[in-house]
Amino acid sequence: MSLLRVDDLTVRFGRSRQPAVERVGFSIEPGERVGLIGESGSGKSVTALAIMGLLADTASCTGSIRWHDRELIGMPDAEYSRLRGEEFAMVFQEPMTALDPTMPVGRQVAEVLRLHEGAPPGRARGRVCEMLSAVGLPDAERVADSFPHQLSGGQRQRVLIAMSLINTPELLICDEPTTALDVTVQARVLELLRHALDVSSSAMLFISHDLAVVSQMCDRLLVMYRGSVVEEGAIADVLARPSHPYTAGLIATADIASVSPGQRLPVIDDFWDVPVDVPGRAGARRPLGSTRRTQR
Ligand SMILES: Nc1ncnc2c1ncn2[C@@H]1O[C@H](COP(=O)(O)OP(=O)(O)OP(=O)(O)O)[C@@H](O)[C@H]1O
Ligand SMILES: [Mg+2]
Repeated sequence: MSLLRVDDLTVRFGRSRQPAVERVGFSIEPGERVGLIGESGSGKSVTALAIMGLLADTASCTGSIRWHDRELIGMPDAEYSRLRGEEFAMVFQEPMTALDPTMPVGRQVAEVLRLHEGAPPGRARGRVCEMLSAVGLPDAERVADSFPHQLSGGQRQRVLIAMSLINTPELLICDEPTTALDVTVQARVLELLRHALDVSSSAMLFISHDLAVVSQMCDRLLVMYRGSVVEEGAIADVLARPSHPYTAGLIATADIASVSPGQRLPVIDDFWDVPVDVPGRAGARRPLGSTRRTQR
């Protein structure tokens, strides 16, 4: 049985006729690292938030999201929030908004610590500092006592990663976890994330615009376009033989070997005008409707 299995997930906001996410399906196996890529507005974050049960109240969600053998859609809040942070966790794009500015970060990390309740305060503090050191913050005691604004962007993002990994979740969802960081800090944070996942054996859903980063971090790739998953496969296979014109366009515009981590990919508005440089497919032009559901 998969760790996570999403079937036919459709999300609408308010009375909008156009769903933000439409009939999305994929699964993640234990320990697997799956990249989710797609242009801005294609539904990546909405998919992640649907899994976390954190969509806005105006959203309506249909289909199925199974966590092991349990259905998450419609799960009572108390049960959902127990799973969140313990069994699956998320690192958000912007660390400043994800942290409480009024509380030292060490206390914030301790609050999500499963052991915290009923554990002697010294033990929780010790575990927090251990985790902060593990994510490359050597002066953990000082960092733990700092407020978010007293830390750099890279340090804040490390705190969030520490917070998300402290209960050793089975799945970590990272939504553009390093976009707010400069390129050198980004490379270090990604390396650390990879190392932390090696240690915890957690699976990961890694959301990005950046094909080069995804190809470094993940085993498998999902490509979203206008709310749907249009392609799925092992990273090497997708890069060598993209089956969807949008993916081929992404690859054509990103020279994977020379793209430095953090470089953003351009939005491709009119993907069917992008020549598909694949044997037997050169110059293929297909309308979206005939490809988006069949080429998963
Ligand atoms: N709370 C909301 N209310 C209404 N519409 C929303 C809401 N959140 C997202 N949407 C819409 O859902 C669509 C998908 O948004 P989403 O945030 O998932 O895009 P994304 O792929 O994560 O883009 P980016 O790469 O820019 O982060 C967009 O059209 C967006 O406007
Ligand atoms: Mg997003």
